[in-house]
Amino acid sequence: MHMLKMKDRDVVSIGDFTVEEIEGIMDYASEMVPIAKGEKKSKVLDGKILSTLFFEPSTRTRLSFESAMLRLGGGVLGFAEPSATSAKKGETLADTIRMAEAYSDVIVLRHPREGAARLAAKFSSKPVINAGDGAGQHPTQTLLDLFTIKSEKGKIGGINVNLMGDLKYGRTVHSLAHALAMFGADLTFTAPKELQMPEHVVKNVKSLGVKPKIESSLEKSISAADVVYVTRIQKERFPDLAEYEKVAGAYRIDMDVLEKAKKDMIIMHPLPRVTEIAPEVDSTPHAKYFTQAFNGVPVRMALLSLVLEVRE
Ligand code: NCD
Repeated sequence: MHMLKMKDRDVVSIGDFTVEEIEGIMDYASEMVPIAKGEKKSKVLDGKILSTLFFEPSTRTRLSFESAMLRLGGGVLGFAEPSATSAKKGETLADTIRMAEAYSDVIVLRHPREGAARLAAKFSSKPVINAGDGAGQHPTQTLLDLFTIKSEKGKIGGINVNLMGDLKYGRTVHSLAHALAMFGADLTFTAPKELQMPEHVVKNVKSLGVKPKIESSLEKSISAADVVYVTRIQKERFPDLAEYEKVAGAYRIDMDVLEKAKKDMIIMHPLPRVTEIAPEVDSTPHAKYFTQAFNGVPVRMALLSLVLEVRE
Protein backbone atom coordinates (compact mmCIF):
# COMPACT_ATOMS: atom_id res chain seq x y z
CA MET A 1 0.00 0.00 0.00
CA HIS A 2 0.96 3.63 -0.59
CA MET A 3 3.82 2.99 -2.91
CA LEU A 4 2.74 6.23 -4.55
CA LYS A 5 5.59 8.69 -4.92
CA MET A 6 4.17 12.18 -4.91
CA LYS A 7 6.62 14.12 -2.76
CA ASP A 8 6.67 17.83 -3.71
CA ARG A 9 4.21 17.30 -6.55
CA ASP A 10 2.14 20.31 -7.61
CA VAL A 11 -1.56 19.59 -8.08
CA VAL A 12 -2.57 21.92 -10.89
CA SER A 13 -4.65 19.91 -13.33
CA ILE A 14 -6.30 16.50 -13.06
CA GLY A 15 -4.59 15.54 -16.33
CA ASP A 16 -1.24 15.62 -14.48
CA PHE A 17 -2.26 12.34 -12.78
CA THR A 18 -2.54 8.78 -14.05
CA VAL A 19 -5.52 6.53 -13.29
CA GLU A 20 -3.23 4.45 -11.03
CA GLU A 21 -2.21 7.52 -9.06
CA ILE A 22 -5.83 8.63 -8.63
CA GLU A 23 -6.79 5.14 -7.48
CA GLY A 24 -3.92 5.20 -4.99
CA ILE A 25 -5.08 8.55 -3.60
CA MET A 26 -8.65 7.21 -3.25
CA ASP A 27 -7.45 4.06 -1.43
CA TYR A 28 -5.42 6.17 0.92
CA ALA A 29 -8.40 8.52 1.46
CA SER A 30 -10.56 5.52 2.52
CA GLU A 31 -8.08 4.82 5.32
CA MET A 32 -8.26 8.46 6.41
CA VAL A 33 -12.05 8.42 6.97
CA PRO A 34 -11.95 7.54 10.73
CA ILE A 35 -9.39 10.34 11.31
CA ALA A 36 -11.49 12.76 9.23
CA LYS A 37 -14.47 11.91 11.45
CA GLY A 38 -12.45 12.48 14.62
CA GLU A 39 -12.83 8.83 15.69
CA LYS A 40 -9.10 8.17 15.45
CA LYS A 41 -6.21 10.53 16.22
CA SER A 42 -3.14 11.26 14.13
CA LYS A 43 -0.09 13.53 14.42
CA VAL A 44 1.42 12.58 11.13
CA LEU A 45 1.67 16.21 9.91
CA ASP A 46 2.95 17.53 13.23
CA GLY A 47 5.23 20.53 12.55
CA LYS A 48 4.01 21.02 8.97
CA ILE A 49 2.24 24.24 7.91
CA LEU A 50 -0.29 24.75 5.14
CA SER A 51 -0.91 28.17 3.53
CA THR A 52 -4.40 28.79 2.21
CA LEU A 53 -4.43 31.73 -0.21
CA PHE A 54 -8.01 32.41 -1.31
CA PHE A 55 -8.48 35.24 -3.81
CA GLU A 56 -12.08 34.08 -4.40
CA PRO A 57 -14.85 33.10 -1.97
CA SER A 58 -14.88 29.56 -0.58
CA THR A 59 -16.53 27.59 2.19
CA ARG A 60 -15.93 23.87 1.63
CA THR A 61 -12.61 23.91 -0.17
CA ARG A 62 -10.85 26.14 2.34
CA LEU A 63 -12.44 24.67 5.48
CA SER A 64 -11.96 21.06 4.41
CA PHE A 65 -8.28 21.70 3.62
CA GLU A 66 -7.90 23.31 7.03
CA SER A 67 -9.78 20.49 8.75
CA ALA A 68 -7.61 17.92 6.92
CA MET A 69 -4.41 19.64 8.06
CA LEU A 70 -5.58 20.10 11.68
CA ARG A 71 -6.89 16.51 11.97
CA LEU A 72 -3.41 15.30 11.01
CA GLY A 73 -1.72 17.49 13.62
CA GLY A 74 -0.47 20.19 11.22
CA GLY A 75 -0.96 23.95 11.31
CA VAL A 76 -2.65 26.41 8.98
CA LEU A 77 -2.21 30.06 8.04
CA GLY A 78 -3.64 32.12 5.22
CA PHE A 79 -6.39 34.44 4.12
CA ALA A 80 -9.93 34.16 2.84
CA GLU A 81 -10.22 37.74 1.63
CA PRO A 82 -7.44 39.26 -0.51
CA SER A 83 -8.52 42.83 0.25
CA ALA A 84 -6.97 42.37 3.72
CA THR A 85 -3.56 41.52 2.20
CA SER A 86 -0.84 43.36 0.30
CA ALA A 87 -2.51 42.31 -2.96
CA LYS A 88 -4.65 45.36 -2.22
CA LYS A 89 -1.46 47.49 -2.36
CA GLY A 90 -0.56 46.03 -5.73
CA GLU A 91 1.66 43.11 -4.75
CA THR A 92 2.02 40.58 -7.55
CA LEU A 93 0.86 36.97 -7.23
CA ALA A 94 4.48 35.89 -7.68
CA ASP A 95 5.58 37.84 -4.60
CA THR A 96 2.64 36.64 -2.49
CA ILE A 97 3.53 33.06 -3.42
CA ARG A 98 7.20 33.64 -2.50
CA MET A 99 6.05 34.68 0.98
CA ALA A 100 3.81 31.64 1.42
CA GLU A 101 6.75 29.50 0.29
CA ALA A 102 8.91 31.05 3.01
CA TYR A 103 6.31 30.66 5.76
CA SER A 104 4.88 27.19 5.07
CA ASP A 105 5.43 23.72 3.59
CA VAL A 106 2.52 23.47 1.12
CA ILE A 107 0.34 26.10 -0.57
CA VAL A 108 -3.33 25.94 -1.56
CA LEU A 109 -4.34 28.67 -4.00
CA ARG A 110 -7.72 29.79 -5.34
CA HIS A 111 -7.59 32.60 -7.88
CA PRO A 112 -10.00 34.16 -10.41
CA ARG A 113 -7.50 33.94 -13.27
CA GLU A 114 -7.21 30.78 -15.36
CA GLY A 115 -3.61 29.56 -15.28
CA ALA A 116 -2.81 31.26 -11.93
CA ALA A 117 -1.99 27.97 -10.19
CA ARG A 118 0.37 26.85 -12.96
CA LEU A 119 2.14 30.20 -12.68
CA ALA A 120 2.30 29.99 -8.88
CA ALA A 121 3.81 26.51 -9.09
CA LYS A 122 6.65 27.98 -11.17
CA PHE A 123 7.49 30.49 -8.45
CA SER A 124 7.44 28.02 -5.57
CA SER A 125 9.73 25.13 -4.74
CA LYS A 126 7.07 23.95 -2.26
CA PRO A 127 4.04 22.09 -3.62
CA VAL A 128 1.19 24.26 -4.93
CA ILE A 129 -2.34 22.85 -4.95
CA ASN A 130 -4.89 24.43 -7.28
CA ALA A 131 -8.16 25.06 -5.41
CA GLY A 132 -9.78 26.56 -8.52
CA ASP A 133 -8.34 28.92 -11.15
CA GLY A 134 -11.14 30.93 -12.74
CA ALA A 135 -13.11 28.78 -15.17
CA GLY A 136 -10.07 26.50 -15.53
CA GLN A 137 -9.63 23.50 -13.25
CA HIS A 138 -10.48 22.29 -9.75
CA PRO A 139 -8.52 19.04 -9.44
CA THR A 140 -9.01 18.34 -5.71
CA GLN A 141 -12.78 18.70 -6.14
CA THR A 142 -12.50 16.10 -8.90
CA LEU A 143 -10.62 13.71 -6.60
CA LEU A 144 -13.38 13.94 -4.00
CA ASP A 145 -16.06 13.63 -6.70
CA LEU A 146 -14.43 10.43 -8.00
CA PHE A 147 -14.06 9.13 -4.44
CA THR A 148 -17.79 9.77 -3.88
CA ILE A 149 -18.84 7.98 -7.09
CA LYS A 150 -16.57 5.02 -6.26
CA SER A 151 -17.90 4.81 -2.67
CA GLU A 152 -21.54 5.06 -3.71
CA LYS A 153 -21.49 3.04 -6.93
CA GLY A 154 -18.54 0.70 -6.37
CA LYS A 155 -16.87 1.69 -9.65
CA ILE A 156 -16.42 4.55 -12.10
CA GLY A 157 -15.89 2.85 -15.49
CA GLY A 158 -19.16 2.18 -17.33
CA ILE A 159 -21.22 4.37 -15.00
CA ASN A 160 -23.56 6.83 -16.75
CA VAL A 161 -22.73 10.31 -15.45
CA ASN A 162 -24.86 13.27 -16.48
CA LEU A 163 -23.13 16.63 -15.93
CA MET A 164 -25.70 19.41 -15.96
CA GLY A 165 -25.99 23.16 -15.50
CA ASP A 166 -23.25 25.65 -16.28
CA LEU A 167 -20.77 23.50 -18.15
CA LYS A 168 -19.20 26.51 -19.84
CA TYR A 169 -17.89 28.40 -16.81
CA GLY A 170 -17.97 25.62 -14.18
CA ARG A 171 -14.40 24.57 -13.45
CA THR A 172 -15.44 21.52 -11.44
CA VAL A 173 -17.03 19.92 -14.50
CA HIS A 174 -14.03 20.69 -16.69
CA SER A 175 -11.74 18.69 -14.41
CA LEU A 176 -14.35 16.02 -13.71
CA ALA A 177 -15.24 15.35 -17.37
CA HIS A 178 -11.56 14.76 -18.09
CA ALA A 179 -11.12 12.39 -15.16
CA LEU A 180 -14.33 10.46 -15.86
CA ALA A 181 -13.16 9.92 -19.43
CA MET A 182 -9.83 8.59 -18.11
CA PHE A 183 -11.83 6.03 -16.10
CA GLY A 184 -14.13 5.13 -19.04
CA ALA A 185 -17.44 6.45 -17.66
CA ASP A 186 -20.32 7.18 -20.09
CA LEU A 187 -20.82 10.94 -20.26
CA THR A 188 -23.84 13.14 -20.97
CA PHE A 189 -23.52 16.93 -20.98
CA THR A 190 -26.91 18.56 -20.29
CA ALA A 191 -27.01 22.35 -20.60
CA PRO A 192 -28.61 25.16 -22.57
CA LYS A 193 -26.71 25.79 -25.79
CA GLU A 194 -25.10 28.95 -24.40
CA LEU A 195 -23.65 27.05 -21.44
CA GLN A 196 -22.53 23.80 -23.07
CA MET A 197 -19.14 22.25 -22.41
CA PRO A 198 -16.24 24.15 -24.05
CA GLU A 199 -14.97 22.58 -27.26
CA HIS A 200 -11.47 21.95 -25.81
CA VAL A 201 -12.97 19.79 -23.04
CA VAL A 202 -15.19 17.85 -25.48
CA LYS A 203 -12.18 17.24 -27.74
CA ASN A 204 -10.09 16.11 -24.83
CA VAL A 205 -12.75 13.67 -23.61
CA LYS A 206 -13.04 12.25 -27.13
CA SER A 207 -9.28 11.82 -27.38
CA LEU A 208 -9.57 9.62 -24.27
CA GLY A 209 -12.04 7.39 -26.14
CA VAL A 210 -15.36 8.62 -24.72
CA LYS A 211 -18.06 10.07 -26.96
CA PRO A 212 -20.20 12.36 -24.81
CA LYS A 213 -23.93 12.83 -25.48
CA ILE A 214 -24.77 16.51 -25.82
CA GLU A 215 -28.27 17.27 -24.51
CA SER A 216 -30.33 20.36 -23.79
CA SER A 217 -33.25 18.68 -22.02
CA LEU A 218 -32.80 17.28 -18.54
CA GLU A 219 -36.24 15.65 -18.75
CA LYS A 220 -34.94 13.57 -21.64
CA SER A 221 -31.49 12.75 -20.35
CA ILE A 222 -32.19 12.02 -16.67
CA SER A 223 -33.71 8.55 -17.05
CA ALA A 224 -30.44 6.91 -18.18
CA ALA A 225 -28.29 8.51 -15.46
CA ASP A 226 -26.61 6.64 -12.60
CA VAL A 227 -25.16 9.94 -11.38
CA VAL A 228 -26.51 13.44 -12.01
CA TYR A 229 -23.85 16.04 -11.25
CA VAL A 230 -25.56 19.40 -10.84
CA THR A 231 -23.72 22.73 -11.03
CA ARG A 232 -24.51 26.31 -10.16
CA ILE A 233 -24.78 28.93 -12.87
CA GLN A 234 -21.47 30.77 -12.38
CA LYS A 235 -22.93 34.27 -12.26
CA GLU A 236 -19.61 35.93 -11.42
CA ARG A 237 -18.05 34.69 -14.68
CA PHE A 238 -20.72 36.08 -17.04
CA PRO A 239 -19.35 39.00 -19.05
CA ASP A 240 -22.92 40.30 -19.49
CA LEU A 241 -25.49 40.08 -16.69
CA ALA A 242 -28.39 40.09 -19.19
CA GLU A 243 -27.00 36.78 -20.47
CA TYR A 244 -27.11 35.44 -16.92
CA GLU A 245 -30.74 36.49 -16.43
CA LYS A 246 -31.70 34.50 -19.54
CA VAL A 247 -30.42 31.17 -18.21
CA ALA A 248 -30.73 31.55 -14.43
CA GLY A 249 -33.05 28.98 -12.90
CA ALA A 250 -33.51 27.02 -16.14
CA TYR A 251 -32.19 23.67 -14.90
CA ARG A 252 -33.62 22.62 -11.58
CA ILE A 253 -33.99 19.22 -9.88
CA ASP A 254 -37.25 18.87 -7.97
CA MET A 255 -39.59 16.03 -7.02
CA ASP A 256 -41.31 16.07 -10.44
CA VAL A 257 -38.04 15.70 -12.33
CA LEU A 258 -37.04 12.83 -10.01
CA GLU A 259 -40.02 10.74 -11.11
CA LYS A 260 -38.17 10.00 -14.34
CA ALA A 261 -34.94 8.96 -12.60
CA LYS A 262 -33.61 5.48 -11.78
CA LYS A 263 -34.35 4.43 -8.17
CA ASP A 264 -30.66 4.27 -7.31
CA MET A 265 -29.58 7.38 -9.24
CA ILE A 266 -27.44 9.64 -7.05
CA ILE A 267 -27.36 13.44 -7.17
CA MET A 268 -24.06 15.20 -6.62
CA HIS A 269 -23.25 18.91 -6.52
CA PRO A 270 -19.91 20.60 -5.67
CA LEU A 271 -21.98 23.23 -3.76
CA PRO A 272 -22.83 26.00 -3.14
CA ARG A 273 -26.29 25.46 -4.62
CA VAL A 274 -28.55 28.39 -5.29
CA THR A 275 -31.85 27.30 -6.87
CA GLU A 276 -30.78 24.27 -8.93
CA ILE A 277 -31.77 21.62 -6.35
CA ALA A 278 -35.07 22.02 -4.49
CA PRO A 279 -34.62 21.63 -0.69
CA GLU A 280 -37.17 18.78 -0.54
CA VAL A 281 -34.76 16.66 -2.60
CA ASP A 282 -32.31 16.68 0.38
CA SER A 283 -34.29 14.05 2.28
CA THR A 284 -34.52 11.61 -0.66
CA PRO A 285 -32.03 8.71 -0.94
CA HIS A 286 -30.79 10.32 -4.20
CA ALA A 287 -29.13 13.24 -2.39
CA LYS A 288 -25.40 12.65 -1.86
CA TYR A 289 -24.06 16.21 -1.98
CA PHE A 290 -23.50 16.58 1.76
CA THR A 291 -21.66 13.24 1.97
CA GLN A 292 -19.68 14.42 -1.03
CA ALA A 293 -18.72 17.63 0.81
CA PHE A 294 -17.53 15.60 3.82
CA ASN A 295 -15.43 13.43 1.50
CA GLY A 296 -13.31 16.49 0.80
CA VAL A 297 -11.64 16.02 4.18
CA PRO A 298 -10.25 12.44 3.84
CA VAL A 299 -9.30 13.04 0.20
CA ARG A 300 -7.40 16.22 1.07
CA MET A 301 -5.76 14.46 4.04
CA ALA A 302 -4.46 11.80 1.68
CA LEU A 303 -3.22 14.37 -0.80
CA LEU A 304 -1.46 16.53 1.82
CA SER A 305 0.24 13.47 3.32
CA LEU A 306 1.42 12.35 -0.10
CA VAL A 307 2.87 15.66 -1.28
CA LEU A 308 4.53 16.17 2.11
CA GLU A 309 5.62 12.53 2.07
CA VAL A 310 4.60 11.41 5.50
CA ARG A 311 2.97 8.07 6.16
CA GLU A 312 0.08 7.35 8.48
C1 NCD B 1 -17.16 25.21 -6.66
C2 NCD B 1 -16.07 26.14 -7.13
O1 NCD B 1 -15.60 27.00 -6.39
O2 NCD B 1 -15.64 25.94 -8.27
N1 NCD B 1 -17.24 25.09 -5.30
C3 NCD B 1 -16.43 24.20 -4.64
O3 NCD B 1 -15.23 24.33 -4.62
N2 NCD B 1 -17.01 23.17 -4.04
C4 NCD B 1 -18.44 25.36 -7.36
C5 NCD B 1 -19.10 26.69 -7.49
O4 NCD B 1 -18.61 27.72 -7.03
O5 NCD B 1 -20.18 26.71 -8.09
